[in-house]
Amino acid sequence: MKVIGFVGSSRKGGNTDVLVKKVLEGAAGRGAQTEIVYLHDLNIKDCTGCLTCKGDPGCPIQDDQQPLYAKIREADGIVLGSPIYMGFLTGQAKSFLDRWYAFLDANRQSRLPSGKKCVLVLPQGQPDENLFAYVHGVLGRVFTLLGIPETRPLVAGGVREMGDAARKEELLAKAREAGEELARSSNIL
Ligand SMILES: Cc1cc2nc3c(=O)[nH]c(=O)nc-3n(C[C@H](O)[C@H](O)[C@H](O)COP(=O)(O)O)c2cc1C
Repeated sequence: MKVIGFVGSSRKGGNTDVLVKKVLEGAAGRGAQTEIVYLHDLNIKDCTGCLTCKGDPGCPIQDDQQPLYAKIREADGIVLGSPIYMGFLTGQAKSFLDRWYAFLDANRQSRLPSGKKCVLVLPQGQPDENLFAYVHGVLGRVFTLLGIPETRPLVAGGVREMGDAARKEELLAKAREAGEELARSSNIL
């Protein structure tokens, strides 16, 4: 089983990074093969809206998103992490996600193999974890459209500075459990 994690924050070692790693650790503990990708390190261009993907599968933009399409297709589990920025995802996470439009055909049917699961890791400075619930609400619908209805949020409220998430034992345990859960219900079982 393969689980791939995407970090959509520029802060390496920051809260998103720590939590995505912890989810992957949980999955690895259940035997999953894991990989982490830092979107900040990559050259991922914005979707140009050319709609080529509604005819031919794939995206014509030749950049670092291309190898990620194959990795996403092959993964049984996906972890997408982004801190809340101005009430939504970071720009880099949103640009990355926009490019997933290539997984939808002209009838908005997903081209992805079914059976994938996803964990959304969403740290935020505000302590009230319901404040941005619309973010995972929207993303849940987007992932369902993409053929990944089993998408669960891991919201981490009250983490602002580097190291905040790493000090919260309960949160780390929750992240690890989310990873274990991701690996448990893989479609190879
Ligand atoms: C540009 C920017 C915008 C932010 N906007 C919000 C916000 O709207 N709501 C919130 O609760 N926290 C906000 N934060 C705080 C981050 O979500 C928080 O610091 C998070 O833990 C950062 O994750 P990281 O360590 O992975 O980068 C913002 C931080 C930055 C730098």
